[in-house]
Order: sequence, then C-alpha cells, then structure tokens
Amino acid sequence: MMQNKHILIGITGGIAAYKICTLIRDFKKSGAEVKVICTPNALNFVTKLTLQNLSQNEVYEGEFTPQNWKPEHISLSDWADIMLIAPATANTIGKIAQGIADNLLTSVACAFSKKMIIAPAMNCNMWQNESVQKNLKTLQARGIEYLPPEEGFLACGYVGKGRLCSLEKIYNAVDEALNYSEKFKGEKIVITSGGTIEQIDPVRYISNYSSGKMGLALAKSAHNMGAEVVLITTKDFEVPFKTVKVKSAIDMQNAVFEEYKTSDYIIMTAAVADYRVKEKSKQKIKKGEEETITLELVKNPDILAQLCKKKIDCRADKSARNNIPIIVGFCAESENLLKNAKAKIEKKGCDFLIANDISRNDIGFGADENEVYIIDKKGEVTKLEKAHKNIIAR
Ligand code: CTP
Repeated sequence: MMQNKHILIGITGGIAAYKICTLIRDFKKSGAEVKVICTPNALNFVTKLTLQNLSQNEVYEGEFTPQNWKPEHISLSDWADIMLIAPATANTIGKIAQGIADNLLTSVACAFSKKMIIAPAMNCNMWQNESVQKNLKTLQARGIEYLPPEEGFLACGYVGKGRLCSLEKIYNAVDEALNYSEKFKGEKIVITSGGTIEQIDPVRYISNYSSGKMGLALAKSAHNMGAEVVLITTKDFEVPFKTVKVKSAIDMQNAVFEEYKTSDYIIMTAAVADYRVKEKSKQKIKKGEEETITLELVKNPDILAQLCKKKIDCRADKSARNNIPIIVGFCAESENLLKNAKAKIEKKGCDFLIANDISRNDIGFGADENEVYIIDKKGEVTKLEKAHKNIIAR
C-alpha cells in the first residue's frame, strides 16, 4: 500500500549507501514517489546520476536553493509522508539528536515533524560508543524509530554489529509506518495515565510515583495512527488531542464512564490509588500533642474491574449498543510478575493486561523506558524487549 505515497530518503556517507539504490527501486515498483537527499559524503559512495535515474527525480544535496517560494528544507519536509535516513552514520545521528542543521539533510531532519525512520550503519566499535547510543535514545524519545544494525562482516574488515539491517526490514518498516497513519481512523481510544491524587486535607495528599509517561506515549501513538484520542490524566501534558484532567480515583472513574459509551478501546495505564481517606479534612490537620495519628482509609472503586463488568452486562443486554470496547489493563508488580499478572487478568476480566516490573529502576515507574509482557485472556504471553516507552506504545 505505497501507491502515491511520498518517501523522502536521506543518504549519508557510508559504504552501505550503494544498497539504497535497490531500495529506491523497490519503493518505486510499489507505486511510491521517491525523492533523495544526499550529504556531501554520500556522493563519494554512490553517484547522483544513479539515484536520479532510479528515483526519477532530482537528487538534492548541499545547502538551500529556493524551491518555488519555500526554502528546500521546508518544501521537502512538506512534500514527504515519511522520511527514511539510510544508511545513517554516527555523525548524522549525532547532529540530528543535537538539532544541528549544517547541511540540507540535517536541516530537513530538523524541520521534519512527521514519521522518521533511521537505519544506522557503522563500524562495530562506533556503534557501541556511548555517545552514539545516547543520541539514539534521544531520537527514540522524540518518536523517531531506528532499525538496529545487524551482526556480520563489515566493510572496514571487522566482524561485529554495525552492518545496515536487511533491505526487507527497512522496506517493511516504511510500509508499516505509512499504513499506520490510518490504522485506527474512525476509532476512539480512551487512555488513562498518571497516579491518582487522594486528598487528605487542603495541603496534603496520598499518591504514587507514576509519571504518566507510558499513558502519554500510548496516547501519542494512537493519535499518530489516526485514532480519536481522549487522555484522562492526573498530569499536565500539552498534546494535540483531548485531555481530561482529573485528580482522584473517583474523578477518574467518572471521566472514564463518561467516555465509555462512545469508545472502541479503553487502556487503563493509570496507577489508581486503591484507597482514599474516609473523610477529607476541610481544614489543614494541625500537629497535636500525640506522637502518632491514624488516617482511616476506604477502598476506591476498581475502575478496570467495573469496566469489564459493564462489558459483560452490555453483552447480556441485547438492546445494548453493539460497540463494546476492548479493555486493556496495566499491572505493576514488584515480585512474581507473570504469576500475579495472570491472576490479575482473570480477576479483573480485561481483554489484555500489560505487565511491568516496578522493582527495576531502569524501566516502568518514572523511567523513560519499559519492558513489558502482554497477556491475553487465554494466558498467552508476548514479551516486548526493553525500549523507549514510545516504541513500546506502538
Ligand atoms: N485499577 C483501577 N482501579 C483501581 C486500581 C487499579 O482501574 N482502584 C487498574 C489500573 O489502572 C491497572 C490495573 O487496574 O490497569 C491494575 O492495577 P494494579 O495497581 O497493578 O493492581 P490492583 O488492582 O491495584 O491490585 P494490587 O495493588 O493489589 O496489585
């Protein structure tokens, strides 16, 4: 499904540049329009004439020349549906991560706000360099996808991880990304995020360490895939879709049920407090003579369990609407992750449960990365390896 899609390919100065000629031909055969930008070094590895002939378009290089009334870095980014940088050298990856725009390719990348995929290729020691890895993480955090290089014989004589991944992988990633933009068109996805805030008195509350980042990443992905998104959250996020700001579990429950009827998916990423203070104090609780004080807590509603129950009731009621949402829960565990998760999906009755281990500092609560297990109703488990929350979300 590449017919009439606009693919902008950035080629940087690596020996794998010659492989991109085949890729351009594959994209063209699938009906896509291709334009190519080369860094000055790329043209040491592949000729402009070859790229021009294969793409059937002018090849862009060097700095800006006005195209119509817009500078090239803007007109090219407006034109493209997707930008692919392959091969991407350590140098270009570093520049894009730092926002450096010193040639046409890095300037376009800096101005580009749509889907971008990069396929790095370099010497294996460069690949392992800490700065290169850090730059890649920065790009991932911005939603830029990278296709890791593969192990093998490298042109520099080394054997190791660094060679451009297969052209088939690049082709599939581009194809998938192009078609993702409409994957959830016409569907409504409701996502909750952040830890709920249970007030004790006007100045104090009970909450938890949830940052809301996983829910935010899911909401952004869903939005990028064409869904109508409602993010119900306890945090402040500036996003181009509807958000509903809530504080307590009760607020969240009301907001979720308000959206229930019209939603196709509900994803409960929020860390909902299990208990709230029985009676909120209207005034600030003063420090008394006692050494200890006791707060009486009462159970909060289990929003996820209620949603799943409602779904069963809707199914039983023939007059109920046809559109019953798919319900996804999250589960935060600090021990016996899979055992507890499997028990939880059964207890709550949701369609999927995403389990993450919160005992680790590098993933889950507050972290930028996550590693999760997706569990379905039959108990089947799919592991998603550790990656930025944006990638896990997709
Ligand atoms: N959840 C909810 N309402 C609650 C508590 C949790 O909707 N009162 C939802 C969360 O949003 C999450 C899932 O239930 O999707 C699991 O949350 P988790 O905290 O892992 O489990 P709990 O049900 O709270 O059980 P426990 O704290 O005993 O592990």
